Amino acid sequence: MYELVSGPLVWISFIVFIGGSLYQLGSMLKLAKKDKVIYPYMSLKYGLRSIIHWIIPFASTNMRKRPVMTIMTFTFHICLVLTPILLLSHNILWYQSWKISWWTLPEATTDIMTVIVIAASIFFLMRRLVLSEVRFVTFPSDYLLLAIAAAPFLTGLVAYHQWLPYKTMLILHILSGEIMLIAIPFTRLSHMFYFFFTRAYMGSEFGAVRNSKDW
Ligand code: HEM
Ligand code: HEM
Repeated sequence: MYELVSGPLVWISFIVFIGGSLYQLGSMLKLAKKDKVIYPYMSLKYGLRSIIHWIIPFASTNMRKRPVMTIMTFTFHICLVLTPILLLSHNILWYQSWKISWWTLPEATTDIMTVIVIAASIFFLMRRLVLSEVRFVTFPSDYLLLAIAAAPFLTGLVAYHQWLPYKTMLILHILSGEIMLIAIPFTRLSHMFYFFFTRAYMGSEFGAVRNSKDW
Protein backbone atom coordinates (compact mmCIF):
# COMPACT_ATOMS: atom_id res chain seq x y z
CA MET A 1 0.00 0.00 0.00
CA TYR A 2 2.79 2.41 0.98
CA GLU A 3 4.57 1.82 -2.33
CA LEU A 4 1.37 2.57 -4.26
CA VAL A 5 0.48 5.82 -2.48
CA SER A 6 4.06 7.11 -2.34
CA GLY A 7 4.87 6.12 -5.94
CA PRO A 8 2.40 6.10 -8.86
CA LEU A 9 -0.34 7.95 -6.97
CA VAL A 10 2.00 10.90 -6.28
CA TRP A 11 2.70 11.13 -10.02
CA ILE A 12 -0.98 10.86 -10.90
CA SER A 13 -2.03 13.49 -8.35
CA PHE A 14 0.59 16.04 -9.47
CA ILE A 15 -0.22 15.46 -13.18
CA VAL A 16 -3.97 15.82 -12.53
CA PHE A 17 -3.40 18.89 -10.33
CA ILE A 18 -1.20 20.72 -12.86
CA GLY A 19 -3.01 19.49 -16.01
CA GLY A 20 -6.47 20.04 -14.48
CA SER A 21 -5.55 23.53 -13.29
CA LEU A 22 -4.26 24.54 -16.73
CA TYR A 23 -7.39 23.11 -18.35
CA GLN A 24 -9.71 24.96 -15.94
CA LEU A 25 -7.83 28.22 -16.42
CA GLY A 26 -8.00 27.80 -20.21
CA SER A 27 -11.76 27.04 -20.07
CA MET A 28 -12.38 30.05 -17.88
CA LEU A 29 -10.49 32.39 -20.22
CA LYS A 30 -12.39 30.95 -23.22
CA LEU A 31 -15.75 31.27 -21.47
CA ALA A 32 -14.97 34.88 -20.54
CA LYS A 33 -14.52 35.60 -24.26
CA LYS A 34 -18.19 34.74 -24.88
CA ASP A 35 -19.21 37.65 -22.69
CA LYS A 36 -18.83 40.78 -24.80
CA VAL A 37 -17.79 43.07 -21.95
CA ILE A 38 -15.29 41.09 -19.87
CA TYR A 39 -12.11 41.54 -21.95
CA PRO A 40 -12.85 45.08 -23.18
CA TYR A 41 -13.44 46.18 -19.57
CA MET A 42 -10.24 44.57 -18.24
CA SER A 43 -7.68 47.11 -17.06
CA LEU A 44 -4.20 46.16 -15.79
CA LYS A 45 -4.05 49.20 -13.50
CA TYR A 46 -7.46 48.80 -11.82
CA GLY A 47 -7.29 44.99 -11.88
CA LEU A 48 -3.98 44.97 -10.00
CA ARG A 49 -5.16 47.74 -7.68
CA SER A 50 -8.13 45.59 -6.64
CA ILE A 51 -6.11 42.36 -6.22
CA ILE A 52 -3.49 44.10 -4.07
CA HIS A 53 -6.20 45.75 -1.99
CA TRP A 54 -8.03 42.48 -1.33
CA ILE A 55 -4.91 40.53 -0.30
CA ILE A 56 -4.07 43.08 2.40
CA PRO A 57 -5.70 42.16 5.73
CA PHE A 58 -8.24 44.74 6.99
CA ALA A 59 -7.92 46.91 3.88
CA SER A 60 -11.59 46.42 2.94
CA THR A 61 -14.68 47.54 4.86
CA ASN A 62 -16.08 44.02 4.98
CA MET A 63 -12.84 42.70 6.50
CA ARG A 64 -12.92 45.40 9.18
CA LYS A 65 -16.52 44.49 10.00
CA ARG A 66 -15.54 40.84 10.64
CA PRO A 67 -12.10 41.04 12.33
CA VAL A 68 -12.01 37.49 13.72
CA MET A 69 -13.01 35.97 10.37
CA THR A 70 -10.40 38.15 8.62
CA ILE A 71 -7.59 37.00 10.92
CA MET A 72 -8.69 33.38 10.56
CA THR A 73 -9.00 33.51 6.76
CA PHE A 74 -5.59 35.15 6.28
CA THR A 75 -3.64 32.97 8.74
CA PHE A 76 -5.43 29.85 7.41
CA HIS A 77 -4.48 30.58 3.80
CA ILE A 78 -0.92 31.74 4.48
CA CYS A 79 -0.17 28.60 6.53
CA LEU A 80 -2.10 26.33 4.15
CA VAL A 81 -0.06 27.39 1.13
CA LEU A 82 3.37 27.89 2.75
CA THR A 83 3.57 24.89 5.12
CA PRO A 84 3.66 22.09 2.52
CA ILE A 85 6.11 24.07 0.35
CA LEU A 86 8.53 25.01 3.13
CA LEU A 87 8.26 21.79 5.15
CA LEU A 88 11.57 20.02 5.76
CA SER A 89 10.13 16.49 5.32
CA HIS A 90 8.60 17.43 1.95
CA ASN A 91 11.83 19.06 0.81
CA ILE A 92 13.79 15.94 1.67
CA LEU A 93 11.38 13.93 -0.52
CA TRP A 94 11.87 16.35 -3.45
CA TYR A 95 15.63 16.11 -2.99
CA GLN A 96 15.60 12.30 -2.86
CA SER A 97 13.50 12.05 -6.04
CA TRP A 98 14.72 14.98 -8.13
CA LYS A 99 17.87 16.34 -6.44
CA ILE A 100 16.17 19.70 -6.03
CA SER A 101 15.77 21.53 -2.75
CA TRP A 102 14.86 24.98 -1.54
CA TRP A 103 14.49 27.06 1.59
CA THR A 104 12.79 25.36 4.56
CA LEU A 105 11.37 26.60 7.85
CA PRO A 106 12.36 25.12 11.24
CA GLU A 107 10.21 22.10 12.09
CA ALA A 108 8.87 23.78 15.24
CA THR A 109 7.54 26.62 13.05
CA THR A 110 5.84 24.38 10.47
CA ASP A 111 4.40 22.37 13.34
CA ILE A 112 2.73 25.52 14.71
CA MET A 113 1.57 26.52 11.20
CA THR A 114 -0.03 23.08 10.87
CA VAL A 115 -1.89 23.55 14.15
CA ILE A 116 -3.05 27.00 12.94
CA VAL A 117 -4.59 25.45 9.79
CA ILE A 118 -6.38 22.82 11.90
CA ALA A 119 -7.60 25.42 14.43
CA ALA A 120 -8.86 27.72 11.66
CA SER A 121 -10.65 24.78 10.02
CA ILE A 122 -12.43 24.03 13.31
CA PHE A 123 -13.35 27.72 13.52
CA PHE A 124 -14.81 27.66 9.95
CA LEU A 125 -16.72 24.48 10.82
CA MET A 126 -18.18 25.98 14.01
CA ARG A 127 -19.07 29.17 12.19
CA ARG A 128 -21.02 27.20 9.59
CA LEU A 129 -22.81 25.19 12.30
CA VAL A 130 -23.55 28.01 14.74
CA LEU A 131 -24.26 31.22 12.79
CA SER A 132 -27.73 30.93 11.25
CA GLU A 133 -26.93 33.34 8.39
CA VAL A 134 -23.94 31.17 7.41
CA ARG A 135 -25.78 27.87 7.99
CA PHE A 136 -28.49 29.07 5.62
CA VAL A 137 -26.04 29.26 2.69
CA THR A 138 -24.06 26.12 3.65
CA PHE A 139 -24.32 22.92 1.61
CA PRO A 140 -22.95 19.46 2.54
CA SER A 141 -20.22 20.07 -0.07
CA ASP A 142 -18.87 22.97 2.04
CA TYR A 143 -18.15 20.55 4.89
CA LEU A 144 -16.58 18.07 2.49
CA LEU A 145 -14.26 20.71 0.98
CA LEU A 146 -13.24 21.91 4.42
CA ALA A 147 -12.45 18.31 5.39
CA ILE A 148 -10.42 17.79 2.20
CA ALA A 149 -8.36 20.92 3.00
CA ALA A 150 -7.82 20.08 6.68
CA ALA A 151 -7.13 16.32 6.36
CA PRO A 152 -3.49 16.51 5.13
CA PHE A 153 -2.67 18.80 8.06
CA LEU A 154 -4.36 16.64 10.68
CA THR A 155 -2.82 13.41 9.36
CA GLY A 156 0.58 15.10 8.78
CA LEU A 157 0.62 16.34 12.38
CA VAL A 158 -0.31 12.93 13.84
CA ALA A 159 2.23 11.14 11.61
CA TYR A 160 5.03 13.60 12.47
CA HIS A 161 4.47 13.22 16.23
CA GLN A 162 3.90 9.48 15.89
CA TRP A 163 0.84 9.67 18.14
CA LEU A 164 -0.79 6.76 16.27
CA PRO A 165 0.79 3.86 14.28
CA TYR A 166 3.27 5.73 12.06
CA LYS A 167 3.06 3.73 8.82
CA THR A 168 -0.75 3.83 8.75
CA MET A 169 -0.83 7.57 9.45
CA LEU A 170 1.80 8.25 6.81
CA ILE A 171 -0.24 6.33 4.22
CA LEU A 172 -3.39 8.23 5.26
CA HIS A 173 -1.44 11.49 5.12
CA ILE A 174 -0.09 10.93 1.63
CA LEU A 175 -3.53 9.76 0.41
CA SER A 176 -5.27 12.82 1.88
CA GLY A 177 -2.62 15.11 0.33
CA GLU A 178 -3.21 13.47 -3.05
CA ILE A 179 -7.00 13.80 -2.72
CA MET A 180 -6.56 17.51 -1.95
CA LEU A 181 -4.30 18.10 -4.96
CA ILE A 182 -6.70 16.26 -7.30
CA ALA A 183 -9.73 18.07 -5.83
CA ILE A 184 -8.32 21.59 -6.33
CA PRO A 185 -8.98 21.95 -10.10
CA PHE A 186 -12.36 20.19 -10.09
CA THR A 187 -14.09 21.61 -7.02
CA ARG A 188 -14.68 25.05 -5.55
CA LEU A 189 -11.13 24.81 -4.16
CA SER A 190 -10.25 26.18 -7.63
CA HIS A 191 -11.20 29.59 -6.16
CA MET A 192 -7.40 29.63 -5.73
CA PHE A 193 -7.23 30.67 -9.43
CA TYR A 194 -10.64 32.27 -9.94
CA PHE A 195 -10.09 34.68 -7.05
CA PHE A 196 -7.46 36.65 -8.99
CA PHE A 197 -9.51 36.76 -12.21
CA THR A 198 -12.77 37.75 -10.52
CA ARG A 199 -11.07 40.43 -8.46
CA ALA A 200 -9.27 41.77 -11.55
CA TYR A 201 -12.59 42.02 -13.41
CA MET A 202 -14.49 43.59 -10.51
CA GLY A 203 -11.67 46.06 -9.92
CA SER A 204 -11.56 46.95 -13.62
CA GLU A 205 -15.31 47.47 -13.92
CA PHE A 206 -15.48 49.55 -10.76
CA GLY A 207 -12.30 51.54 -11.45
CA ALA A 208 -12.30 52.10 -15.20
CA VAL A 209 -16.05 52.11 -15.94
CA ARG A 210 -17.87 53.24 -12.80
CA ASN A 211 -15.02 55.41 -11.49
CA SER A 212 -15.36 53.97 -8.01
CA LYS A 213 -13.79 51.31 -5.78
CA ASP A 214 -14.83 47.72 -5.11
CA TRP A 215 -14.09 47.67 -1.39
C1 HEM B 1 1.26 14.33 -2.24
C2 HEM B 1 2.13 13.70 -1.55
C3 HEM B 1 2.63 13.99 -0.15
C4 HEM B 1 3.62 13.26 0.42
C5 HEM B 1 4.40 12.12 -0.23
C6 HEM B 1 3.83 13.79 1.76
C7 HEM B 1 4.76 13.31 2.66
C8 HEM B 1 4.96 13.75 3.93
C9 HEM B 1 5.91 13.22 4.88
C10 HEM B 1 6.88 12.09 4.60
C11 HEM B 1 5.78 13.92 6.03
C12 HEM B 1 6.61 13.76 7.32
C13 HEM B 1 6.08 12.89 8.34
C14 HEM B 1 7.19 12.72 9.36
O1 HEM B 1 7.85 13.69 9.75
O2 HEM B 1 7.42 11.59 9.77
C15 HEM B 1 4.76 14.92 5.83
C16 HEM B 1 4.36 15.83 6.77
C17 HEM B 1 3.42 16.84 6.55
N1 HEM B 1 2.73 17.08 5.38
FE1 HEM B 1 2.85 15.97 3.69
N2 HEM B 1 2.97 14.85 1.99
C18 HEM B 1 2.20 15.01 0.83
C19 HEM B 1 1.21 15.96 0.62
C20 HEM B 1 0.89 16.98 1.51
C21 HEM B 1 -0.06 18.05 1.25
C22 HEM B 1 -0.83 18.25 -0.06
C23 HEM B 1 -0.12 18.81 2.39
C24 HEM B 1 -0.91 20.05 2.68
C25 HEM B 1 -1.46 20.82 1.82
C26 HEM B 1 0.79 18.23 3.36
C27 HEM B 1 1.03 18.74 4.63
C28 HEM B 1 1.90 18.19 5.55
C29 HEM B 1 2.09 18.69 6.89
C30 HEM B 1 1.39 19.92 7.44
C31 HEM B 1 3.04 17.84 7.53
C32 HEM B 1 3.72 17.94 8.89
C33 HEM B 1 3.01 18.41 10.04
C34 HEM B 1 3.90 18.77 11.21
O3 HEM B 1 5.13 18.76 11.12
O4 HEM B 1 3.29 19.07 12.23
N3 HEM B 1 1.39 17.13 2.79
N4 HEM B 1 4.27 14.81 4.54
C1 HEM C 1 -3.73 31.07 -2.88
C2 HEM C 1 -4.84 31.43 -3.34
C3 HEM C 1 -6.15 31.48 -2.57
C4 HEM C 1 -6.92 32.57 -2.39
C5 HEM C 1 -6.65 33.99 -2.89
C6 HEM C 1 -8.07 32.18 -1.60
C7 HEM C 1 -9.11 33.02 -1.21
C8 HEM C 1 -10.20 32.66 -0.42
C9 HEM C 1 -11.26 33.54 0.01
C10 HEM C 1 -11.36 35.03 -0.36
C11 HEM C 1 -12.12 32.83 0.77
C12 HEM C 1 -13.40 33.35 1.45
C13 HEM C 1 -13.11 33.73 2.85
C14 HEM C 1 -14.20 34.57 3.47
O1 HEM C 1 -15.40 34.23 3.38
O2 HEM C 1 -13.82 35.59 4.09
C15 HEM C 1 -11.62 31.47 0.85
C16 HEM C 1 -12.19 30.45 1.57
C17 HEM C 1 -11.70 29.16 1.64
N1 HEM C 1 -10.54 28.69 1.04
FE1 HEM C 1 -9.28 29.75 -0.14
N2 HEM C 1 -7.98 30.84 -1.33
C18 HEM C 1 -6.81 30.36 -1.90
C19 HEM C 1 -6.33 29.05 -1.84
C20 HEM C 1 -6.95 28.01 -1.19
C21 HEM C 1 -6.49 26.63 -1.20
C22 HEM C 1 -5.24 26.12 -1.94
C23 HEM C 1 -7.36 25.91 -0.43
C24 HEM C 1 -7.37 24.45 -0.09
C25 HEM C 1 -6.92 23.51 -0.86
C26 HEM C 1 -8.36 26.83 0.09
C27 HEM C 1 -9.40 26.49 0.94
C28 HEM C 1 -10.41 27.34 1.35
C29 HEM C 1 -11.53 26.92 2.18
C30 HEM C 1 -11.77 25.51 2.73
C31 HEM C 1 -12.34 28.07 2.37
C32 HEM C 1 -13.68 28.16 3.09
C33 HEM C 1 -13.63 28.28 4.56
C34 HEM C 1 -15.07 28.23 5.05
O3 HEM C 1 -15.57 27.10 5.25
O4 HEM C 1 -15.66 29.30 5.24
N3 HEM C 1 -8.09 28.11 -0.40
N4 HEM C 1 -10.46 31.40 0.12
